[in-house]
Amino acid sequence: MKTKSPPQNPIEPARTPVIRSNSRLEWSLAFGFLVLVYQFFWTYHTWRGKPYTLCSASECIGFAALVGIASSISMGPLYRLLKLPLPVLRLRRPLGVLGAWLTLPHGLISLVFLPKDYPFSFYLKNWSCLLLGILGVFGFIYMAWISRNNSINRLGLVVWQRRLRWASVLLGISVLHFMVLGKISGWVDWAHQLDKVPPGSLLAFGIVGGAYFWRFLDASKRRTWSALLGAALLGAILIGCHPSASNQPAKLRVLCGSSMAEPVQELAKQFNQSHPTNIEFDLGGSETLLPKILAGARADVFVCHDPFEEKIKAAGFHTETVVVGYLEPVLAVRPGNPKGIHSLADLAKPGLKIGIGDPRFSTCGELFVNVLKKKGLHESVLTNVVLQARTHSEVANGLILGPLDAVVVWNFIIGLYPGKLEVVPTGSEYPVTRVTLLGLTGSENPAQRNTFLQWCRGPIVEKIFRRFGYQRETEKGPVPTVPPGSRS
Ligand code: HEM
Repeated sequence: MKTKSPPQNPIEPARTPVIRSNSRLEWSLAFGFLVLVYQFFWTYHTWRGKPYTLCSASECIGFAALVGIASSISMGPLYRLLKLPLPVLRLRRPLGVLGAWLTLPHGLISLVFLPKDYPFSFYLKNWSCLLLGILGVFGFIYMAWISRNNSINRLGLVVWQRRLRWASVLLGISVLHFMVLGKISGWVDWAHQLDKVPPGSLLAFGIVGGAYFWRFLDASKRRTWSALLGAALLGAILIGCHPSASNQPAKLRVLCGSSMAEPVQELAKQFNQSHPTNIEFDLGGSETLLPKILAGARADVFVCHDPFEEKIKAAGFHTETVVVGYLEPVLAVRPGNPKGIHSLADLAKPGLKIGIGDPRFSTCGELFVNVLKKKGLHESVLTNVVLQARTHSEVANGLILGPLDAVVVWNFIIGLYPGKLEVVPTGSEYPVTRVTLLGLTGSENPAQRNTFLQWCRGPIVEKIFRRFGYQRETEKGPVPTVPPGSRS
């Protein structure tokens, strides 16, 4: 009698063992590996200059999920091609299952706990990100569910393996869910600068690409590859439908303290070259812009100096901070230093006429007076202060046009009057006053806001601010006495 031969598994050659159950040690090893991956991406965020927030934690969980699933998918091909040791192959199931379950907290945190970073309007605009993400979560959890021993028995090995084959397609779909947010422009920025670690999305793309590569080398599975091709096509369509791919440039509304207007307009020009964006400015004193934000104005970014960040944070309107430069009071005299002023103590010389910002309204004036008090020069220098003005232009013009002999102004003011003011280094230690770009929760376009702020973390932006004089005397070398002739 002819005996029926066992059915040939069309998915995997019989030589690859099927793992139906795992020991506690194997689960622990897989879990430990994913914790390390999470930790790695957490550190990676700081390398990219991003802050530690719940948003970063959620992204790191997403990365751990992606790596778990991608390594699980790669292990079969690696076992067959490179003779991966059996104990390692045995981790394929726990890695895939844990990775699949990790997509759930990532998706939930992004949807429920980050309304400031990703409000409902974000998902409405980027519906494809949400749709693909949900497809990924449900698909992977279903696969984890049917990978229990009794489910495998119930379905039968062939059907089970056939269903699991869709994991590669789901992996592609998961990558697409963040690629549709216009990640490619971030890759292009990185490629232009090449001096920082690459964007995380590029790393994720590489990891998933690696998994596909091994599967491709392993065998020609026509159905899998036609499904992948289908997914790629779907991806191309979705990326094509993304708002950033349309001809309409994205919009950003930037509230900018007038002291920072020049470099910010310059960086907007540079940003526009690689990311066509309609940037609308609202310029004014930081104290007048602050109430607008607190009243809930629609705005993406606030450019200000310390201590405004604290106020925005306390009111709950803050998403992230990018530090781009520093403000510091500088002592300036006429070119050639005709009165021979070389230190703060020299400002006490009888008969000198000094101009400063009014400490009641001007942070610069306040910082200067505090330093005088610390040095015991308060009384003697203040007797020579003949002008306490509200604006820096009044103070600077008092020196340029007369009758002042010395003025104390913010560092960037020197660059506004090329050749008219000479800086006298005083070696004074002022409290650090940072110039910051703050992401605001009132953004109508959080994805574009995040892209802009991430771009602003690049060295080019700090260079622009340095060029305009926003640097500290003590930490970054002396403030240029004569600013560069070409400021654009
Ligand atoms: C309900 C489902 C999901 C939602 C709502 C969701 C939402 C998000 C959001 C809002 C981001 C941040 C995008 C950005 O601004 O850069 C993100 C990033 C990410 N997601 Fe998801 N996601 C979901 C499912 C998934 C799945 C199934 C995976 C993969 C296994 C995944 C992996 C990732 C990764 C690795 C990132 C980081 C990408 C980067 O740094 O650019 N997500 N997700």
